[in-house]
Amino acid sequence: MIEHIPVMQREVLAALNVRPGGRYVDCTVGAGGHAFAVIEAAAPGGSLLGIDLDPQALAAARRKLEGFGANVRLVEGNFAEMERICSELDFAPVHGVLLDLGLSSLQLEESERGFSFQREGPLDMRFSPQQEVTAAEIVNGHAESALADVLWRYGDESRSRRIAKRIVERRPLHTTTELAKVVEEAVGRRARRLTHPATRTFQALRIAVNQELLSLETALPQAYGLLGDLGRLAVLSYHSLEDRLVKTFIRQESRDCLCPPRQPICTCSHEAGLRPVSRGAVRPSPEEVARNPRSRSARLRAAERLPATAG
Ligand SMILES: C[S@@+](CC[C@H](N)C(=O)[O-])C[C@H]1O[C@@H](n2cnc3c(N)ncnc32)[C@H](O)[C@@H]1O
Repeated sequence: MIEHIPVMQREVLAALNVRPGGRYVDCTVGAGGHAFAVIEAAAPGGSLLGIDLDPQALAAARRKLEGFGANVRLVEGNFAEMERICSELDFAPVHGVLLDLGLSSLQLEESERGFSFQREGPLDMRFSPQQEVTAAEIVNGHAESALADVLWRYGDESRSRRIAKRIVERRPLHTTTELAKVVEEAVGRRARRLTHPATRTFQALRIAVNQELLSLETALPQAYGLLGDLGRLAVLSYHSLEDRLVKTFIRQESRDCLCPPRQPICTCSHEAGLRPVSRGAVRPSPEEVARNPRSRSARLRAAERLPATAG
């Protein structure tokens, strides 16, 4: 059985400033690795609400966290709805919110989920079985230009048009390995490239299927709204599109005025409510990358909620 190794665990605990008795939301509880470390550090008296879209991940988290009894609650849901979920459970304000984006090793290794180009499986890629759109529908149903657009926008794939053209010529495609082969046919395999030529295509499809950027954009202001004074938001992202959203959000909420720089008088009345915890993103140590190659692309950003000013 594959284990998901939590990425930058020590750094995440520091970023969240986990303290005994604290209340935490793990928006991507996955296999429960980070959640275990957080709830352990929050003892005695701490509590944790874990959210995930994937019922299989939640089952794994339930097993891992069962020893913490009623101090841990787990909910199947989208973190883009964390405000509603927390309000229904009366779980706010909180001391920390964690988002560890993307997919877990459990999901990647399970061929039936269709996330990996190295394992034969259906073109699925949904985090939740409740979602309607699968990768097969995008691959076989999108017009060529729309498909190229997905690969370009979400995969930063410079050869998106060539790949989309070849997919359209070869479809219908049914499996991950068929798709990987078609991408390889379209662009060839560069001798000195370490990654498989289908890596970006698979990333793009996964992001599109799960509307990952939209969920993140919706979630960030809600996470901010859940934080009590000096509460911490910590986000681990794995590609530049996610990281840019997080960086921009923290930067924006750390400024007192959002008016255009040339405007002489502030008319927006925006007030800073966050303070970045570190300058720039924190990266995994070389030792961690050697131990857990999946941490390679991780970037951790964190911010602290400023106390509300009186008046
Ligand atoms: C990288 S894994 C988290 C691993 C976890 N931190 C651990 O240590 O075991 C990301 C998890 O987020 C979940 N996920 C992705 N998007 C989500 C969303 N919009 N709402 C809720 N869960 C989501 C995935 O199903 C996956 O289980």
